[in-house]
Amino acid sequence: MFYVTTPIYYVNDEPHIGHAYTTVTADALARWHRLLGDDTFFLTGTDEHGLKVQRAAEANGIAPGEQADRFAERFVDAWRLLDISHDDFIRTTEPRHHTAVTRLLQACYDRGDIELGAYEGLYSVADEAYVTADEVAELERQGRPVISLKEENYFFKLSRYERALLDWYDAHPDFVQPEARRNEAVGFIRQGLKDFSISRTSIDWGIPLPWDPRHVTYVWFDALTNYLTAAGYGADDPAFPARWAGARHLIGKDILRFHCVYWPAMLLSAGLEPPRSVHVHGYLLVGGEKMSKTRLNQIAPAALVETFGVDGFRYHFLADQRFGPDGEFSFEGMLARYNADLANNLGNLAARVAAVVASKCSGVGPAPSAGGPLAEAAAAVYEEAARAWERVAPSDALEATWRLIREANSHLEAHEPWKMEPGPEVEAVLGDALEVLRIVAVLASPAVPGAAAEIWHRLGLSGSPQDQRLPAAAAWGGYPGGLPVTKGRPLFPRLSA
Ligand code: MSP
Repeated sequence: MFYVTTPIYYVNDEPHIGHAYTTVTADALARWHRLLGDDTFFLTGTDEHGLKVQRAAEANGIAPGEQADRFAERFVDAWRLLDISHDDFIRTTEPRHHTAVTRLLQACYDRGDIELGAYEGLYSVADEAYVTADEVAELERQGRPVISLKEENYFFKLSRYERALLDWYDAHPDFVQPEARRNEAVGFIRQGLKDFSISRTSIDWGIPLPWDPRHVTYVWFDALTNYLTAAGYGADDPAFPARWAGARHLIGKDILRFHCVYWPAMLLSAGLEPPRSVHVHGYLLVGGEKMSKTRLNQIAPAALVETFGVDGFRYHFLADQRFGPDGEFSFEGMLARYNADLANNLGNLAARVAAVVASKCSGVGPAPSAGGPLAEAAAAVYEEAARAWERVAPSDALEATWRLIREANSHLEAHEPWKMEPGPEVEAVLGDALEVLRIVAVLASPAVPGAAAEIWHRLGLSGSPQDQRLPAAAAWGGYPGGLPVTKGRPLFPRLSA
């Protein structure tokens, strides 16, 4: 089972391109794994409890439940707009989640890993976390105010899990990827772990502790459990064990500590296995800074979709951002890449081939030749793209896929079929180019599902790229020939600055 998750997003805020970046990446991965024929389950959703949401509701003059409903809807709409193919959308205010959180808490409590204590400390509302005195200046610089809190809390005995976590990391070298992030997590554990607070009495917007309902669960215990809920944990779903064994979390580096340290310890305490892997990416920066509500530098996905289209949006964040390091977003960069890769390379190949098939082959697509340089390139590209998707490196996978497009364009330029007389020679050149388009439609479909389906249709093929199965669909020779090829409107109209 390939069970891929995004973080669940807070409902205090509008969806922006940072959220979309993680979600589009998870979507492309899910689509790739469906092509491989893997049993795939893709989860996203919203994080709806806690002080941050309660405060946002107060500021909007509405009840927290209404705040959650309104903003969850915005995420649902954003993902619909971006052609996100999630199998489940979890909201932490759902009864199924209440059941799962209660069960996980009880399991850790029964194990003796949750104890009552008093907490007095500094708390960052924006981060929903207690912070240390040396973090305050930096947080305030970022516009994340810190308040002082004193209350009775239950604590999760994280300090007991140092050894177990280090053993887990040793036994599972790929648990956290890329490696630099794994080292960061291991380094954090080695410094020594402190117990962390899991409950609050000062707020009521949350799930009560089953053994002491004066307390509600602190946001991270609640939030992380969403991955179990959707896998069927609270519902005794028979699908749970297989689904959970294949869990892969995609997250931004801001929440590494919670996913790579707290979460595996909580699971071990409850007698469950940690997820199969956690894939950590860097920040999308705008003008050198992380997007945030207070800096007013957030960009809504819809604003870019208007210019670049859904596929143009998706392609940019998959191809232009390397998964791992921080990356700077700029409109100019997005425009240049769109024109180069989508309008000129892919769009041009599709338009040119259809035009020459119309003029030299009466609009009937010829079959490809048995082998040759493009067949070899296609085989190499498939191998490279498959390895890249496997290591969650969409930019490398698309780089390889686009190499095949460029090779096909060069092949056309070298042979100039538009200058040839109709006949077997022109048919061989065009048949090979059509076959490249067919293979590219499959390989690029996780990134640009709309354009891929359109290319498929224009080649005269029935069904759609997403119904194909890899590796068979990438094997040379799949285009049967004799099908009507249509030109249609430009797939990616060129944009000027
Ligand atoms: N609700 C918690 C996560 C709980 S998961 C069990 C949360 N929510 S969030 O709305 O703040 O979303 C955080 C996630 O959004 C990041 O981990 C990342 O995936 C994505 N991003 C938000 N801003 C981002 C950037 N500027 N750049 C890249 N990703 C960003 O934290």
